[in-house]
Amino acid sequence: MTSTFTVPQVAVSKRRNGATPLTMITAYDEPSARFVDAAGAELLLVGDSVGNVVLGQKDTLGVTVEMMAHHIAAVARANPRGVIVGDLPWMSYHVSVEDSVRNAATLVRAGAHCVKLEGGKNRVEVISAITNAEIPVMGHLGLTPQSVLAMGGFKVQGKTEDAAQQLIDDALAIERAGAFAVVLEGIPDVVAKRITEALTIPTIGIGAGPDTDGQVLVFHDLLGLGNRTPPKFVRVYGQLGQAMTAALSEFVGDVRSGAFPSDAETYHAPKGSNLSE
Ligand code: KIV
Repeated sequence: MTSTFTVPQVAVSKRRNGATPLTMITAYDEPSARFVDAAGAELLLVGDSVGNVVLGQKDTLGVTVEMMAHHIAAVARANPRGVIVGDLPWMSYHVSVEDSVRNAATLVRAGAHCVKLEGGKNRVEVISAITNAEIPVMGHLGLTPQSVLAMGGFKVQGKTEDAAQQLIDDALAIERAGAFAVVLEGIPDVVAKRITEALTIPTIGIGAGPDTDGQVLVFHDLLGLGNRTPPKFVRVYGQLGQAMTAALSEFVGDVRSGAFPSDAETYHAPKGSNLSE
């Protein structure tokens, strides 16, 4: 699978060097990938957020490698120009290094151009092994949703000087291990700025303020398709959920009133056939 945007291009996209900010949007199936591609985003993230966003689960912990491969393959069928980032789900890179490399390869064989995993210094060995298997790795620091139980909920991270310094150390560690970019989620803007300045690889923020090298949002959040009030860092660019309900309701009403289907929407028997009316 080829793409117009490549991992090496993303890896050098630092705003301080004059690069345009990167855009990454989640996609979970062929239609969403087509829409994201048409918008021109450089990166499509097949996130494990598929669990809560698409499958109605309460968090991402129920998502498996097989589920991720299924959704990545659907996104890849859209043949987007952007880099397809496949999220390694919880427990797919926590048991052993060998396991992690094999699971990363499963996502690449499904169509991902790289994988994303959560964690800092504790993931150095795994990042280095996956990178050595020629699979590019994107890191993910801050509010890491797979740590929801350990964090005691989805809470903004890095709020003290010590916690901020730990995040900077984590970011430097995963850069040294070979990560080509890192997502910064749910941290104060000043901390995201310090991490972005400290790294040579790009940072992509979500709830991390304006100073990162790029921004990522969840497809359903930015299009108003979610079933909850989105967090404060989301800007809703379209109320497509309302538009969809209006269109669907019109269909239901037309069927009930007999206005659908019309004659033009109906097949007729060929003229002169012996089919009776
Ligand atoms: O799974 C996901 O959608 C993510 C984003 C929140 C960055 O990891």
